[in-house]
Amino acid sequence: MTYTVIANFKMNGTVGSTIEYGNELFDLLFENELYNTTIVMAPSAIHLAYLQSRLIGTRIKYGGQDLCGQAQFGSHTGNTSAEQLADLGCTYSIIGHSERRKNLGETDCIISNKLSNATLARITPILCVGEDFTENREGHTWKVIKGQLDVNLAKFDSTAKIMIAYEPIWSIGTGKIPSLQDVQNVVDHIADYMQGRGLQAELIYGGSVTGANAEELLMVKNLSGFLVGGASLKVSTFWPIIQACEAVGKQIKTQSA
Ligand code: 13P
Repeated sequence: MTYTVIANFKMNGTVGSTIEYGNELFDLLFENELYNTTIVMAPSAIHLAYLQSRLIGTRIKYGGQDLCGQAQFGSHTGNTSAEQLADLGCTYSIIGHSERRKNLGETDCIISNKLSNATLARITPILCVGEDFTENREGHTWKVIKGQLDVNLAKFDSTAKIMIAYEPIWSIGTGKIPSLQDVQNVVDHIADYMQGRGLQAELIYGGSVTGANAEELLMVKNLSGFLVGGASLKVSTFWPIIQACEAVGKQIKTQSA
């Protein structure tokens, strides 16, 4: 089992702090070989070029936090396209984060177009889905996620790679996480759904992931990593999550040897 851990910096950091972060992480990787974990950094788009110069040729991958669903180039002021991300060496992009869905009115249709543009540029989309607090309490979690997937994946190329991040909105930045059983239920539902549609995805979890709960969350079967917000902002709090993935990955390998 190999895991992917994605650092979503959101709208945080400066040129200096982003470069420093890359250096710190790179030093740790120099001393600690990773056998079971891929790291992906998603800083602000304006910081990607600085990161590229530090990370190109290393095993740390990087990507955007969003991309344009309308075009690859042209009159789209303020947007960044999938082709432009790819040109910078990005191999991933977060798409459909709940903060964009809620604060910027990003609809499921818009997200579907973003997924198509990502795959055209060979960017692996990290599609975020999840329910809010009320939907969760009223037992509508799967109904909400299925509704998102139905539209988001309507035009998705079945041969393309995709990651799906289950991010319950009520868990983001709150320190609250669902029970392992609840995460397992969602992961199982998404896995069945994808299989039913002839699609394949890596399934990850996001929402208040820390070094203290990562190992426990990895007990969820078929969960292959994390999308991390707050705890990714400092290497000192991000690294323990990577170590948890390494430890669990090693355990699994030993058991199956
Ligand atoms: P937190 O890890 O801060 O809860 O954020 C999760 C998230 O939104 C990652 O995309």
